Amino acid sequence: MDGHIDKLTIAGQSIRHDSALAHCTGDAKFVDDIPEVPGTLHAALVLSEVARGKLLALHTDKARAMPGVVAILDPKDIPGHNDVSPTHRGGEPLFVETDILHFGQALAMVVATTRDAALLAARAVTADVEVLTPILSVAESLAANDLLMDPMVMVNGDPDAALAASPLRLSGEFSCGGQEHFYLEGQICLAVPGEDGDFALYSSTQHPTEVQHITGGVLGCDYNRLSVHVRRLGGGFGGKESNASWVAAVAALGAYHTGKPVKFRMPRKTDMAVTGKRHPFLFRWDVGFDESGRIHAVDALMAADGGHTLDLSTGVLFRAVTHAMNVMAVPNLRVDGRVLRTNTVSNTAFRGFGGPQGVVLSEEIIRHVAKHLGRSPEAVRERNFAGEANGTLTPYGQKLEGDLIRRVWDETKDLSNWESRRAAVDAFNAAHTWKKRGLGSFVLAFGISFGVQAMNQAGALVHVYADGSIRLNHGGTEMGQGLFIKIAQVVAETFGVPLARVRITATSTAEVPNTSPTAASTGTDLNGWAARIAALAVKERMIKVAAEQWGVEPDDIEMSDDEVRSGNHRMRFSELAKLCLAKRVQLSAAGHYKTPGLSWDPKAMRGEPFFYFTYGASVAEVEIDTLTGEYRCLGAWLVEDCGRSLNPAVDLGQIEGAFVQGMGWLTTEELFWDKQGRLRTLGPSTYKIPGSRDVPEVFEVRLLEGAPARADTIFRSKAVGEPPLMLATCVWNALIDAAGVASMDIPATPERVLMAMSAHK
Ligand code: MTE
Ligand code: HPA
Ligand code: MOS
Repeated sequence: MDGHIDKLTIAGQSIRHDSALAHCTGDAKFVDDIPEVPGTLHAALVLSEVARGKLLALHTDKARAMPGVVAILDPKDIPGHNDVSPTHRGGEPLFVETDILHFGQALAMVVATTRDAALLAARAVTADVEVLTPILSVAESLAANDLLMDPMVMVNGDPDAALAASPLRLSGEFSCGGQEHFYLEGQICLAVPGEDGDFALYSSTQHPTEVQHITGGVLGCDYNRLSVHVRRLGGGFGGKESNASWVAAVAALGAYHTGKPVKFRMPRKTDMAVTGKRHPFLFRWDVGFDESGRIHAVDALMAADGGHTLDLSTGVLFRAVTHAMNVMAVPNLRVDGRVLRTNTVSNTAFRGFGGPQGVVLSEEIIRHVAKHLGRSPEAVRERNFAGEANGTLTPYGQKLEGDLIRRVWDETKDLSNWESRRAAVDAFNAAHTWKKRGLGSFVLAFGISFGVQAMNQAGALVHVYADGSIRLNHGGTEMGQGLFIKIAQVVAETFGVPLARVRITATSTAEVPNTSPTAASTGTDLNGWAARIAALAVKERMIKVAAEQWGVEPDDIEMSDDEVRSGNHRMRFSELAKLCLAKRVQLSAAGHYKTPGLSWDPKAMRGEPFFYFTYGASVAEVEIDTLTGEYRCLGAWLVEDCGRSLNPAVDLGQIEGAFVQGMGWLTTEELFWDKQGRLRTLGPSTYKIPGSRDVPEVFEVRLLEGAPARADTIFRSKAVGEPPLMLATCVWNALIDAAGVASMDIPATPERVLMAMSAHK
């Protein structure tokens, strides 16, 4: 199975996103755009108003009497299991039975004739609660060692002995905050009852199969009664990997009890208050190194704030731990990863999935070592690059490509004119008192594959119709990242037909079952291969028909330019499709793909969990106003390895978007919970996502050229969705450089910049 072809007629060209125009004009249909049939009802949640406590009683009489109210449902109305945990049975109730574990936890739901009526009635439900003191910070939970799972400890070499023997040592502590996904389209599901206990679920989910499983569990029905449909999401960013499932279960439960279609969409403030976020982390580290800047040993604690329940924290921690040393080969290491319980929403997947939290640890260590030695962070990072001199193995035993680490960094230095820019920044700072500029850099190696081996599979379904048009369906979901156009390119390329012949269709558990979430940046890798396998199966049958028709060998037949050819024979693709039908040849095939060669021993914390690594590097220049702490990113220069990009236009968009989203996490996006555990940053006025003016003034992105993937990826492309988010780490480094300090907690807000500088003075 060779995914490499030399002449890419469609793949490799800049083709715009299939919904580009529809997104701009508003024609793109989201779940809330589906016309409501008469009788459609709406759901709203009754929410806890304490962060921790015991639920003693719910009072619903007043709400029940309100206009439009059709039903009020609580745990007793759940026919199956009161459980929406994606990872372990009983891990997370849909509605609280006794223990309230976070502010805004769902106690019950209201179904009413309009959304407003449902929301009003939900607010009229009151609860008797015995209030308990919540634990709200990871530090507090760490002190109590209130773990949600066993520690995940990775050891390599002999860290204790190597630390003791190191000529120089430093230690420190810092933290990073969470991040709200801020998808443009909020969480939503429309549940439509069919015949005899069947339901169709129109969900904005990254994981249609999990919506099916969790809803099936809540309703207590077989999965074959539920079909989940997803044309597109208005952004997911990880926030709709697990959270979309309980949202769907709410709609489905409403539909189950009323027999009517039920739509569930929360107000934005509620969505922000009750859905999981990126995991905040607390880090403690100890490093041993020498005068040359070579790091001999690291001993680190990575404490993740899991929130009230595990959700996907195991996977997030796995990625944080495996990415903690990033591009450095550190011979002696201990990383002690923990997930702590707090009384907040359960933290979940967010673009990077623990990777961003992992790589900032290595950068923090690099910066401190550099400062101690009076050298640049760049010099220390380079000194420790995985590669010939230091060895190429990650602490868990997988090989990094040292030459690619070098190449992305060297090209980024070039692209950013690193040397002269450094000199110009230093000159600017010598000449200015109140404004200070800073430069920062970053180099990334990001492992591609789901941490859970079984998730690395995908399915696709390809039909060729008698007129030569093609219908494509696969297990991946389109959330704006351009997955659908890339898979369509793969299929068009495989048949040698124009892209316009391929019809992209909504993801559906009824067409391709048992799918993995579209996550871990693997959407194209997995579904692209599944679709290619399906298309190759149909193509082979078509070629056989043509070969028989012409009396030639199948090997002598070529399909390209919408034609089928052999010697002097030629036929249009559509003619061959018609001929196949006449000859009773099946023109439909399902494809299934599983990533080869993955291994992981969770006890030893060793193996080759990733199919391959993507590499990237970045440089940023910032300017801060030392009187206010405010700053701007003057420029950013990025080089990202996408292998042989399937679609450079889409990939560039992903890189730019991810970088700016990463900047948001590292600089301005700060979640604030009050002492009662109520999230106070519930909209863009208080929660500062990047705006158009935060985009770097100079923004140059380059795809690494001529660096095809070494693993057998689809048409030698590489994943792009998450890795560039981490490239924004250079902005954090640049702010620290400009402020002239050693470190700054994340997010490095203007307030933090100002405080750090004052403390420094
Ligand atoms: N891009 C857009 N526009 N919207 C999104 O929600 N999600 C990101 C990334 N890019 C996202 C996005 C995340 S978290 C992941 S894992 C990948 O897309 C998933 O899609 P892929 O595997 O097809 O790259
Ligand atoms: N990324 C995103 N989601 C996941 C992963 C991962 O690596 N593993 C399980 N769910
Ligand atoms: Mo992305 S965080 O893997 O959905």
